[in-house]
Amino acid sequence: MSLLPPTLLLPQQTVSKAGAVLGLTQAAAAFGMKGLLVHGRSLRRSGMLAAILEEPPFGMSVRTWCHGGDEPTVDAVDALRAELRADRPDWVAAVGGGSVIDLAKAAAGLVDAPESTRFYQTNNAAIPPAALPLIVAPSTAGTGSEATVVAVLTDPERTFKQSIRHPSYMPKLVLLDPTLLKGCPPATIAAAGLDAFIQAYESYTSRHATAFTRALSELALVRIAHALLPLYQGNSDAASDMLEASYLAGLALSHARLGVIHGLAHPLGARFHAAHGLVCACCLPACLAFNRATVQQDLKDLNARHGLDVEAQVETWLGAMKLENPFAGQAVADREAFIRETLASGSTAANPRPVTAADASALLDAIFTGSEK
Ligand SMILES: [Fe+2]
Repeated sequence: MSLLPPTLLLPQQTVSKAGAVLGLTQAAAAFGMKGLLVHGRSLRRSGMLAAILEEPPFGMSVRTWCHGGDEPTVDAVDALRAELRADRPDWVAAVGGGSVIDLAKAAAGLVDAPESTRFYQTNNAAIPPAALPLIVAPSTAGTGSEATVVAVLTDPERTFKQSIRHPSYMPKLVLLDPTLLKGCPPATIAAAGLDAFIQAYESYTSRHATAFTRALSELALVRIAHALLPLYQGNSDAASDMLEASYLAGLALSHARLGVIHGLAHPLGARFHAAHGLVCACCLPACLAFNRATVQQDLKDLNARHGLDVEAQVETWLGAMKLENPFAGQAVADREAFIRETLASGSTAANPRPVTAADASALLDAIFTGSEK
C-alpha cells in the first residue's frame, strides 16, 4: 500500500474551535472585501447568521443567499451561478449542512464555466478550475464536504444524482465550530453521523486507500464510535469530536474514494426523497455483510487496536437511534437503470469486493427487505 495518495489536496487553513465562525468575515478579508454567504434557513432562525455578519471589517460588504433545503439540484446551482456572475464577489462562504456546502462549492467552482451545470454533471466533460475561493463552516457533523473536492448534485428532471469534482474545489478556509451544531435535531445528528461513519469505513476499506488516508479514516472511525451516540443523546461535549472526525473522513474519502454503500446511495437518493445519511444507513447492514469476508482481517486488526467491534457498534446505533426507513413499502421501478448507475459509480469501483450486476440486484433486495444479504 502506498504511503501517500498520488496528489495530496488539503484545505489551505483549518480552524477548529468554539466560536470560530464568528471570525468568518475577519478571515475572509484575506480574499477580498466583497463576499456572498450561502446558508440554510435554520442559520437565520437561530440568530447565528446575524451574529456572523454583525461586525464585518470596515468596507466589507456581504450578501446572503438562502438555500431552501434538500439536496442541491443542478438548477439551484445555475441560479446561484447567475447571482455570482451578476454580483461578482471576491469570495463565497457556505455555513450549513452538506447541501449548503455542495451548492456553494459547485456554484463557486462553475461560476465562469460556459455550459450549464447539468452538462458538467452528465457528460464527464472537463471541468474548468474554480474561479472563486470558498470558505466553509459545517453545521452538521456528517458529509465532510468541507474537506473534499467533491460536490454532489441531483437532477430531479432525469432522476439522477452524481458528483462533480475538481482539485480547485477544495475549500481555502474551513471553520470547525461546534457551536454551529447546537439545536441540530437528533434525526439529523443520526443520519449525518452515520454518513460520517460510513465514509470513514468505506475510505478505510477502499481499493484506493493509502497508508495516509487509512490513518485519517481510522482516527475518524474510532472517534465517531465514541462520540456519535453521546451527541445524539444530547451531550454537546461530543460535538467537537464529531465535527473533527467527519472532517478527517472527508479528507480521507476525497483521496481514497468510498465503496458500494455510496455506489447504491446515489441512485437510491435520486429516486427516493430521503436524507443521504439515512439512505446510506439503510444500505449499511447488507453492505457490511457483502464485504465481510474480504475485509475481515483488516477490521479484526482495527478492532483489536482500539478495543472496538465495528459491526456490533453499527447494530447498537441502528437499535438506539430511531431511523425511519424511507424505503418501507416502496420498490425500484427501473431496476436495470438502477443497477447500471450503481455499477458505473466510482464509489462502487473502489469497493474492496468487486460488485457484479447480480450482486447489486441482491443488495437492492436486501436493502428493501431490511435484511442482510
Ligand atoms: Fe456520504
